[in-house]
Amino acid sequence: MNIATPSSTWSHLIEPGRVHGSLYADSEIFKAELEKIWFRTWVYVGHVSEIPNRNDFIIKSIGPLPVIMVRDRKGEIRLLQNRCPHRGNTVCVTEKGNRSSFTCPYHSWTFANDGRLMGYAFPEGYQGADKSKLGLGQVPRVAIYKGFVFGSMAPEGPSLEEHLGGAADAIDRLCENSPEGEIEVTAGFLHHRTKANWKFILENECDGYHPGFVHASIFSVADSKIGELYGPDSSAVSRDFGNGHTEVDLRPEFRKRDEVLSWFGTTAGKLPDYVSKMEAAYGAEKAREIMIDGTPHIMIFPNLFIAEIQLFVIQPKAVDETIQHVTALQFKGASDFNRRLRQQTMGSVGPAGFLLADDTEMYERNQRGLAMNDPEWLFLERGMHREGHDADGYTIGHSTDDLPSRGIWRHYKSLMEAE
Ligand code: FES
Ligand SMILES: [Fe+2]
Repeated sequence: MNIATPSSTWSHLIEPGRVHGSLYADSEIFKAELEKIWFRTWVYVGHVSEIPNRNDFIIKSIGPLPVIMVRDRKGEIRLLQNRCPHRGNTVCVTEKGNRSSFTCPYHSWTFANDGRLMGYAFPEGYQGADKSKLGLGQVPRVAIYKGFVFGSMAPEGPSLEEHLGGAADAIDRLCENSPEGEIEVTAGFLHHRTKANWKFILENECDGYHPGFVHASIFSVADSKIGELYGPDSSAVSRDFGNGHTEVDLRPEFRKRDEVLSWFGTTAGKLPDYVSKMEAAYGAEKAREIMIDGTPHIMIFPNLFIAEIQLFVIQPKAVDETIQHVTALQFKGASDFNRRLRQQTMGSVGPAGFLLADDTEMYERNQRGLAMNDPEWLFLERGMHREGHDADGYTIGHSTDDLPSRGIWRHYKSLMEAE
């Protein structure tokens, strides 16, 4: 397919209840996605707690591209493109650290950590060169919401608040689970490579249809009640926030149970320090509500998945290759809670974890299936007849419906059709 084809192309590939298989498998479409989505919209990059001190830096990404997320000498958070203005070499090859400047390994040009070129080796060879034009590239727009750092490669466009819309409330709900109102990303990341298109992963994050089947083994080994949340009788709802952000809202089920920390498979008696800190911070009644509701399950388009107890960052590498970067969420001021979060994360998405391995096998089988061309389409009509609206006007459906995928594709189409 030619990416220069008119915008009507997308109407031929994306319909309200089905999408064409080529969307996951055509490398020309992948190139178009980089241009229209990954290098244009807001993309989640990292969290301020990963670079708490001046001169801290960490390598992150926007789509397939590496960027340096740095807190510069003045304390400002910047996203620098990891490409030397001399011959294009990778300037920073260390994953993270604390440095006031970066020196390119090839010919030793040195850059301040705000991106300015400070000097070059053997400067007598550079008469008249304008140093101010030879700094590191900056990601044009950087914005932070509640410590979550987003970048946009487009100099202009909707603000981060406009992009997040109702999804910002879910981030607020997440942060409320800390007695200090902040999350921290300090547990380190695992990087899982998957031979599948990034959109299979994006769609699966709020697919409430599969858990009872794909994750039956971990639910039975862990004696977990999670499977019930995704059964046909569940009162949990799927929600489309618009702008591609989708949620499976499990609160109706947890409110029925009416037990503090049941969402986390534990009891108040097992986390006494956390519970008392929450009560001190919010008052007994509000703390009880927060600890009954638990943390959200939300996919923020295109790459940030908040999965109750983990944070996933989805990074596309090629049309059929994606990396999932995953870490345990940590809540400021909640050490006993945090220890359990790390343990549960190891069991579910660690190297020998059950949960992510099962999902990954599904993604890769999906991708392999696309090599066959009959049928050509993927079917997304589940629950179309029973869509409704919540009090805020967002479209909602049953937790097992395809409503989140339909919301993702609606937004995807609008981005791909844009000039
Ligand atoms: S490529 Fe970086 S100094 Fe030459
Ligand atoms: Fe899953």
